Parts: sequence; C-alpha cells; structure tokens
Amino acid sequence: MNILLLGSGGREHALAWRIARSPRLSQLFIAPGNPGMSLYGTCMPRIGVTDFAAIAALIRREHIELLVVGPEVPLVEGIVDYLHGEAGLTDLLIVGPDAKGAQLEGSKDFSKAFMQRYGIPTAAYRTFDKSTLSEAIDYLKTLQPPYVLKADGLAAGKGVIISESLEEAERELRGLLSGRFGSASTRVVIEEYLHGIECSVFIATDGSDWRVLPVAKDYKRIGEGDTGLNTGGMGSVSPVVFADEAFMQRVEERVIRPTIKGLRAEGIDYRGFIFAGLMNVGGDPYVIEYNCRMGDPETESVMLRIDSDFVDLLERMARGHLGDYHLEESSQYAATVVLVSEGYPESYAKGIPISYPHAPTFDSLLFHAGTSRDDSGHLVTSGGRVLTASCLGSTLAEALERCYKLADRVQYTGKTLRRDIGQDLLKLS
Ligand code: AMP
Ligand code: GLY
Repeated sequence: MNILLLGSGGREHALAWRIARSPRLSQLFIAPGNPGMSLYGTCMPRIGVTDFAAIAALIRREHIELLVVGPEVPLVEGIVDYLHGEAGLTDLLIVGPDAKGAQLEGSKDFSKAFMQRYGIPTAAYRTFDKSTLSEAIDYLKTLQPPYVLKADGLAAGKGVIISESLEEAERELRGLLSGRFGSASTRVVIEEYLHGIECSVFIATDGSDWRVLPVAKDYKRIGEGDTGLNTGGMGSVSPVVFADEAFMQRVEERVIRPTIKGLRAEGIDYRGFIFAGLMNVGGDPYVIEYNCRMGDPETESVMLRIDSDFVDLLERMARGHLGDYHLEESSQYAATVVLVSEGYPESYAKGIPISYPHAPTFDSLLFHAGTSRDDSGHLVTSGGRVLTASCLGSTLAEALERCYKLADRVQYTGKTLRRDIGQDLLKLS
C-alpha cells in the first residue's frame, strides 16, 4: 500500500517510524517531512500541509492509496472535503475527519456545546463575544479563581489563558475579544477551573467502532515542577498509573461511547483519531478538550507501545470498518524527553549545528521535530522543539533513564530539557 503522511514534527516522525515497520507498506511519502523521516520514506519538503492542490497532484502521481493527516490545521481547513471532491479521489482512503468533524478541535464553542448535548462531563462554561463583554465580566465574577479563558478557534496552542486574579482575567478577556488571535478569538469560552491530574486518551475510530490506544500524559510547561510558560510539550510517558481499568471503564462509558454516538447523531462520519484531553477529578474523567489528531509529544511514546500492525489499523479506520482488529498494547513503559532550543517557547536562535549518536535501536529512538540540513548537509536546529529522545523500558524509571542517557549524547548549543519528566507518576506508583 502506498501511503502519504502529512506533517513535519516529532509526532509525524514517530508515525512514519511505526508505519515503516509494517509489511503492508509499499512506499511512504511524507509532505513536507523532516531530515529524520527520510530514513523511512520520500520527503517532499516543498509541499506544505495546506497546499491542497499540490497534495492532490502528488496523490495522483504516486498512486497514493491511504492519506494520513498528522496536524489539525489541514483538517480544520477541510482537506478531507477538498480531496473527496476531486475527480478520481472521491474514494481516497483518509485517516482524519472532514471539516465538520474537525470542529471538535477547531471550535471550542462547538466542542463544549457538543459535550453538553450528549451529556459528556466537562467544566461548566459560557461563550461570549464583543457584544456580550459585560455579561462575560459578570460571569467571571460568579467563578472561583483561577479563571480559564479559551479563544474559540485555533491559536497555535496558545489560545488557553489561565489567570489567577479577576483583574488579570478581565484584561486578558478584553485582549482576546479585541483580536489578539484574529478571528480565532472573536468568541471566547470562559469555563470553570478543574482541579485534578491530566491524561491524554487517543481514540482510533472508523465512525462507529473504536479502539483505545495506550494512554499517555504530557508535560506542557517549560519549567521543572510544571512551572513557567506553556509549550508545545516537553515530554510524555505511557502508560499512566492512575488510568487503571476502573478509570478507563468510566472514560469508555462517559466519554468515548457518547462522543462516537454524538458524532453519528450529528451526521459526522468521523474516521480518524480523537484525542480527548482528560482531567481526572477524584477518579471521575472530565473532558478538558478534544483534538482531531494525535498528540505531540504523546505520539512519540504511544507509537513505541503498539505491537499490532499499525497500517492495518489506519486502513481499517479509513475504510470505515475496524472489524476484528486486535490492538496489541505492549506491557513495557515508554517515555519521551523533548530537547528544545534555549529561549523556547519565546524567541530562540535557529541554524545551530547538532551532533547526535547514530544507529538508534528499537527501544531507544531520536525523533526529529525542528531540524533541517544546512547547505553542506549538516543537521541544524530549525525550531523550538528540536528532537525527542523516546525510549522503552521494563519500568517507567528505566524508560526515563534511557531517555536521559540518549538526550545527554545529543549536542547543540543551548540544548534545554526538563529533568523531571514522569517524576509525578513515579511518586504515585
Ligand atoms: P490546551 O492549550 O487547549 O492544550 O490547554 C492548555 C492547558 O490548560 C490544558 O492542558 C490544561 O492543563 C489547562 N486547562 C484547560 N482548561 C482547563 C480547565 N477547565 N481547568 C483546569 N485546567 C485547564
Ligand atoms: N500534547 C498536547 C497536544 O498535542 O495538543
């Protein structure tokens, strides 16, 4: 089977690595891809993830049978609707929802109203725009601090603001409604703050049936002890000790089943991944947010823990028939430590030469996130998140130890990482 994967980050590198291990794969193309992924397939660095016409041309030219969409932006912008409307591509197999389904991530207001319609546990909320600013301020006053404000649309992962004081929340609210994120913050969701511990649940669905992938936890803040600015993710681990059988049963009954049922009731034929960011509030799952794609850097850990044929799963999702697919989850632990540029998530330098150990093994991998090659072919940094060290171990401690050993062998000026990934879970276990 010829497969095209869209994306260029650590998530897509991990997906490419997993796809390449399947005997079902004939040829893998990746657009745009990154230097690490070229080990597994042909990268098309000039084709961006929203260049729909160029993507359609590539699919026709290379006889692609299955398209896997990594990031959310092309999904929210309607790549599935576009391609299925193209002559000769109406039956193209695609992993990823159409624009209607992608609203689960593309509009916080849509996703909150969806959860309310189908009785899915989530924080109490209301949505406001410029014309209802004074009502918004009144609503804030009814809540306890901290205050949670969310831009309705996609804001490159920066659309959630948590303010400790009412004054700050009011200021942030005015900023959002006056267009801080352009049209993404024309509407703002204000919601109740949930206290608990988070985990990431990934649902692979064919529109009516589903499989739950290994549960993961990510670490979003730049600083150790979960301090400082939010980032695109500094690390992840899988499994998650508190996501035990009883908790996952509640997730299945209260979140997954009504989500899939709700999508069907709305006339959405969702074939792709649903990522539910959950808060465990005293043993009860609450949905913090939905995403219409896999998580990053969770995918880097999750892919290490899937032992069954991944291409088979992707194809069945896209065909709308999971059938008897048996998802085999490894009993090993996986961890991912993200190596970032100094200064990230604010400004940072690019083009810094990287030296790194060669010949990764199956249980010790370096996924590329923000790397490129300079004119003489040397690997250099090209983003805030540069590489991920992703390892398996027979315990979480062992997986983490391997990650740090590997991370220590990577060198570039300004290399920055968190040394406490997974420590909170080690204390719980
Ligand atoms: P996001 O950028 O959408 O991934 O959200 C950023 C983070 O904000 C989430 O991962 C949570 O840690 C936090 N968050 C969002 N909504 C809430 C909430 N209602 N209560 C507590 N924390 C929240
Ligand atoms: N790790 C969180 C995300 O991918 O949105």
